Amino acid sequence: MSSITYIRCASQLITVRGGTKEPKRAQDMSDIGIIEHGSVVVENGLITFVGSDVEAERYVHTLNGHINTIDASGKIVTPGLIDAHTHIVFGGSREKELEMRLNGAKYIDILKAGGGILQTTTSTREATEEQLIQETSKRLNRFLQYGVTTVEAKSGYGLTLEDELKQLRAAKKLDERHPIDIVSTFMGAHAVPVEYKENPDEFVRLVIEEMIPRVAEENLAEFCDVFCEEGVFTIQQSEQILEAGKRYGLKPKIHADEIVQFGGAELAAKVGAVSADHLLQVSDEGIKQMAKSGVIAVLLPGTAFFLMEKPANARKMIEAGVPVALSTDRNPGSSPTESLPFIMNLACLTMKMTPAEVLTACTINAAHAIGKADEVGSIEVGKKGDLVLFDAPNYQTLQYNYAVNLVDTVIKKGQVIVEGGALRDVPVPTT
Ligand code: NIG
Ligand code: FE
Repeated sequence: MSSITYIRCASQLITVRGGTKEPKRAQDMSDIGIIEHGSVVVENGLITFVGSDVEAERYVHTLNGHINTIDASGKIVTPGLIDAHTHIVFGGSREKELEMRLNGAKYIDILKAGGGILQTTTSTREATEEQLIQETSKRLNRFLQYGVTTVEAKSGYGLTLEDELKQLRAAKKLDERHPIDIVSTFMGAHAVPVEYKENPDEFVRLVIEEMIPRVAEENLAEFCDVFCEEGVFTIQQSEQILEAGKRYGLKPKIHADEIVQFGGAELAAKVGAVSADHLLQVSDEGIKQMAKSGVIAVLLPGTAFFLMEKPANARKMIEAGVPVALSTDRNPGSSPTESLPFIMNLACLTMKMTPAEVLTACTINAAHAIGKADEVGSIEVGKKGDLVLFDAPNYQTLQYNYAVNLVDTVIKKGQVIVEGGALRDVPVPTT
C-alpha cells in the first residue's frame, strides 16, 4: 500500500519552481513561485501534486490508501533547506580560539602556528569512525530541527589517506542511517599537515596520486575541494588537485578568495568548478568570469560574522548574474552553527539579500551547488517530498524574526521527522 502525506491549507506554499535545469540568477532569484492557500501531496516519498487547496481536495479524492493529513493553516511551507557547504565530520572542539581572536589573533595565523584546522586534524585522527558517527549524528539532528534535509559534508581533518577515508566512510554510513541526505566532498587539501610543513609539494603529490584514486575507487565522494589561499595551497597546486579530481570523476569546488584576493574565483571558472565558496575578497574580474562560466557562489555570511570580518559582496555578484547559494560552513573553527535560518537572517542583514533571494539561495541554488537539483530544492512534481512548515504566515516573517527557530514540522521523503519543533524518534546510528 502506498504511503500518502497530504499537507494542506498553507498560507503560502513557497515552491521555488522553475530552476531545475539551471540555477536561478539575477531577478530570477526573487521568483520563489508562491501559491497562496496551497497544498502538496507526497506519495511513496515523492511529490505527486502541487497546487491550490481546492484542486488538492479533488486530487486526494482519487487516491486509495491511508492519508496522513497535515494542516498547515497559518504556516508557510518551503522545500527542505539544503546546506551546500559543511565540514561536519570532525573530532574535538576549539572554543579557546574565540578568546585568542578577541585578543587580536587572526584565524589564519592560528592555523599557521599549528592550531585551527591542524588542531582539529589531531583530534579527528584520534577519533574512531564510530566516534565520528556519533558526534556527527548530533549535529545532523540539530540540522533537522533547523529545517535542513540535505547537507554536503567535506573531509579534510584527516590529512592522511586512512584518516581521510575514515571521515568519508563515516559520512557515507550517516547518509545510509540518518534521515538527512549527505553529499560528500573530498577535501584532503584543506591544510598542509605538520609532517609535510617543509615539503608541501610532497603532500600535494600524496593527495593527487594516493588519496584521490582511493576515494574514487571506494566511491566515497562526488566533489573535490581545495583551500586555495595565501599560505595554504597556491593557485598552481589547487589547479593540479582539482584537475586530478576531475580525471577521477570528482567535480571541482573551491574555497576561494576568503582572506586575500588570490585568483581563486578565476581558477574556479578556468577548471569549470561547480561552485566557488567564501569569496569575501573576490575581484571584479573573478565575478565576471564566474558569471560567464556559470560557477555558483556559495556565500557563508556566518563565517564572516563569527570571524568578525566584512561579508562577501552578494549584491555585486547577484547583479553580475552569478547564481548565489548560502550555507552555514558548519565547522569547529570558523562557523560552529547548524542554524541555516540564522545564516539566512545574516544574509539579509549583513549582505542585503532579500527574503526571497535567500530562500532561493538555500533551496534550488544550493541543490545545484551539490548536483542534486533534479531531486530536491523545489516543491515540484517528481522531486523528493522534503518539506518544512514554518510557524510564519508569510516568507518575509522568516527573516524579520531573527535568530529564532520558526521550524514547526520537517518532512523527509514524506515522513514527519520533526513535529512541533521537536525531533520524532530519530534513530541514533550504530555500527
Ligand atoms: O571553510 N577556510 C577553510 N576551512 C573552513 C574552516 C575549517 C576550520 O577552521 O576548521 C572554512 O571556513
Ligand atoms: Fe569551508
